[in-house]
Amino acid sequence: MTALDKISGGKMTKKILIISGSPKKDGNTQALIDEFVKGARSKGAETEVIHAAFLKYKANGCTSCRACQKSDKYECAINDEAKPVLKKMADVDIIVMATPLYFFAASAQLKLIFDRMFSLYKWDNEADTMETPLKGKELILIGSAYEKTGLDALEAPFRITAEYSGMTFRSLLVPDAGESGDVRKKTGDLKHAYELGKEIG
Ligand SMILES: Cc1cc2nc3c(=O)[nH]c(=O)nc-3n(C[C@H](O)[C@H](O)[C@H](O)COP(=O)(O)O)c2cc1C
Repeated sequence: MTALDKISGGKMTKKILIISGSPKKDGNTQALIDEFVKGARSKGAETEVIHAAFLKYKANGCTSCRACQKSDKYECAINDEAKPVLKKMADVDIIVMATPLYFFAASAQLKLIFDRMFSLYKWDNEADTMETPLKGKELILIGSAYEKTGLDALEAPFRITAEYSGMTFRSLLVPDAGESGDVRKKTGDLKHAYELGKEIG
């Protein structure tokens, strides 16, 4: 249980932060997020959706300035709209990253935030230690693609990051999702997204 978990009526309210990496506000990623959120809320979870593609950035991703490693706080030194999102990642119980498959990888829009998670770790190379407030949380990947090829490659960095960080991991990967918006006609995939939200909410 994290410090920010709330107890209501004997049940812990889960806080879920969903970060969309799609540039489409009504595309396949959003359709899957919508169903996931409905499922999670049906179980009382608190959800917030952030669109990485529409944040105002002062840098094109992590600049490797390492200022975060010299500070006691787990915070990024770049003062832009991504900074509070990173802080929220440290505060919630579950982080969902949702992305279309772009050339067998996550979208660049999602990667802009993903690399700045560097600020959520403290490394002591002499002592060979790493600490992160992400430990004990859950990371979920929601990915969709026009075809099938490459969804395993998409999943790998998220799964390995979760393992590295002491987080549990699961994913919902949707092949044959079609072009943006087509997945709204695929009731089976929408149901899977809803059920996943319900399961973890
Ligand atoms: C720039 C770009 C690259 C893409 N690369 C792939 C790909 O490598 N493999 C694939 O199956 N689909 C690919 N797609 C299709 C999208 O992954 C797929 O339609 C996805 O469900 C769209 O989600 P969205 O509506 O949220 O953007 C690509 C689409 C775009 C625009």
